[in-house]
Amino acid sequence: MMSEERLRTVLARVQPAPRLVDWSLFVLVFLEVASGLLSFTVGRPPGWPVFEFHRIAGVAIVALLAFKLYRVRHRVLDRDRWVPSTVLSALTAAAAVGALLTGFLWVAGLDVRIAYWTLLSVHVGFGLALVPLLIAHLSTRFRPPRRVDLEGRRTAIRFTGLVVGGAVLVRLQDLANAVLETGGRDRRFTGSQPREGAGNAAFPVTSWVADDPDPIDRDSWALSVDGMVASPIELEFSAIEPDAEREALLDCTSGWYTVQRWGGIRVGDLLDRVDADADATHVRFVSVTGYRWTLPIDEARDALLATRVGGERLSHGHGAPLRLVAPGRRGFQWVKWVDRVEVRDRPDPAQWLVTLISGFE
Ligand code: HEM
Repeated sequence: MMSEERLRTVLARVQPAPRLVDWSLFVLVFLEVASGLLSFTVGRPPGWPVFEFHRIAGVAIVALLAFKLYRVRHRVLDRDRWVPSTVLSALTAAAAVGALLTGFLWVAGLDVRIAYWTLLSVHVGFGLALVPLLIAHLSTRFRPPRRVDLEGRRTAIRFTGLVVGGAVLVRLQDLANAVLETGGRDRRFTGSQPREGAGNAAFPVTSWVADDPDPIDRDSWALSVDGMVASPIELEFSAIEPDAEREALLDCTSGWYTVQRWGGIRVGDLLDRVDADADATHVRFVSVTGYRWTLPIDEARDALLATRVGGERLSHGHGAPLRLVAPGRRGFQWVKWVDRVEVRDRPDPAQWLVTLISGFE
C-alpha cells in the first residue's frame, strides 16, 4: 500500500489548488445537470456529443471529488471539528456520490426497477437534489476564486489530464461492457436500454406525475383540427380511418426504448384535409390533460396519430384513443390522449412549463 507521505507527494503533483478544485466541482456539476437535462431533448444520433460530454465530465468529477474528500477528511471524520454546516456538506457529498454511482452502474447495464422508476430516474433525482445542496453548501463556505490558482502551465496540464483521462475511461468502460457482455452494451447512444416484444405489454406505461386521466370513452371523444386552416374539422373516433402504418422507435427519458409498428393516420393527410395555410410553420398536439407539444410543420406532416401498436388497439396507458408518434423525438414529446391538433405560425416555448404542471388541479 502507498504510504501517506507518498500519497501526499503524488497528490501535490496531480491535483489543482484547493480553491480551484472547489470551483471546478461547482462548474462541472452545473454543466452535468445542464448536459443531463439537455440530453433529454436529444433523440437522433447526431446528438451523441451531449452524452459523451456528460460521461467524460462525470469521470472528471470523480477525480476532483476524491481530491476534495481527501483534503477535508479530518474535518468530517473528527466529530469534535463538526460545525452546523458540516451536515449540509455531508449531504452534498452524499448526493454527488449517489449521482456518480448510479450513473456508472447505469452505464454498466444494471437494470433495477422500482415501480416504473429505473436506476436512471434515481440518478436524475440525485442530480437534481445536488443543485440546491451545492448552492447552500457554497453559501456557507464561499471563498472567491483566485486568478493565481488558474495560472501556470501545470494547471493547464492537470486539467488536460482530467479531460483526456475521462475520455479514455469512458472508452474503457464501453470496452468492458462489450467484453463482459453486460446489459450496458445494448444501450442506445441515449443510454436507454431495450424493451423487446410487440404491442402494449412490451413496454412500460410512463407519464408525467399528474398526467393521469380516466380512460377515455371513444364514443364521446372527438379530435378537433383547427388554427391556421381553411376548413377546421371535428372527427369522431368512428370517422378516423387508420390507413397508415410505420415502424418507429420510442425512446423514453426514464431509460428504455422500444421499436414498434404503429398504425393510425398520417398528420400530413390530416393537414391536407383541412387545407392548412401556406404560412403555417408549426403544429401543436394537445392532450385531454392539457399536456402539449409542438413540431415544425414539415416534421409534423411526417408524424403519425396512432390508434394501434404492434397490431393491437392502443391501450389507455399508452394514450388511447390517439397518440402522437414523432420519430426521432424523445418519449415525452409523443403526446398521449390527443384531442386537438392546432396549426400555427409560431413555436410554443410555454410547452416546457406546461409539460411540468399539466394534470395538476
Ligand atoms: C439532473 C440531471 C441529470 C441527467 C438528466 C443525467 C442523465 C444521464 C444519462 C442519460 C446518463 C446515461 C448516459 C449513458 O448511458 O451513456 C448519465 C450518466 C452519468 N451521469 Fe448523469 N445526469 C444528470 C446529472 C448528473 C450529475 C449531477 C452528475 C455528477 C455529479 C452525473 C454524472 C453521471 C455519470 C458519472 C454518468 C456515467 C458516465 C459513464 O459511466 O460513462 N449526472 N446521466
